[in-house]
Amino acid sequence: MKSNGNKTRRPFLPVLGTALLVACTGAAQAANFTMYRDPSCGCCEAWAAHMRHGEKHEVETVDHPDMASVKTEHGVPDDLRSCHTMIADGYVIEGHVPSTDVERLLAERPEWVQGLAVAGMPLGSPGMEAGGRTQPYQVIAFGNGRREIFASYP
Ligand code: CU
Ligand code: CU
Repeated sequence: MKSNGNKTRRPFLPVLGTALLVACTGAAQAANFTMYRDPSCGCCEAWAAHMRHGEKHEVETVDHPDMASVKTEHGVPDDLRSCHTMIADGYVIEGHVPSTDVERLLAERPEWVQGLAVAGMPLGSPGMEAGGRTQPYQVIAFGNGRREIFASYP
């Protein structure tokens, strides 16, 4: 004789299926970028606004009390460091990199590149507008001990 009504449910598979569905749906939408910043710094938010403007990306901002550790964790070379660090689809974007260069990186995806960086805080770079004053700067692609100039401004 069969046992009486088996009340044991097996919710795990349906729940897992739902989670996967949600994950896949999310991935199909606009890429979500995460920018880490020091809460006392203002230019990072100006740069995040630049990244969001006219682009298809969400930029989530995370205040972090120890930005140096974030940069070390993500392999940003010491001499290329700036204020904020963004993780974009597996790449590291350090400092005031123009959004067009981020787009180009994500389109080209050179195999050796780990990230892009604009060292320091050059005036006139996105988020560092200063009444028309500009300083020349370069976007450096870095990865696995290698570096290349990705773009030069102005
Ligand atoms: Cu800055
Ligand atoms: Cu900043």
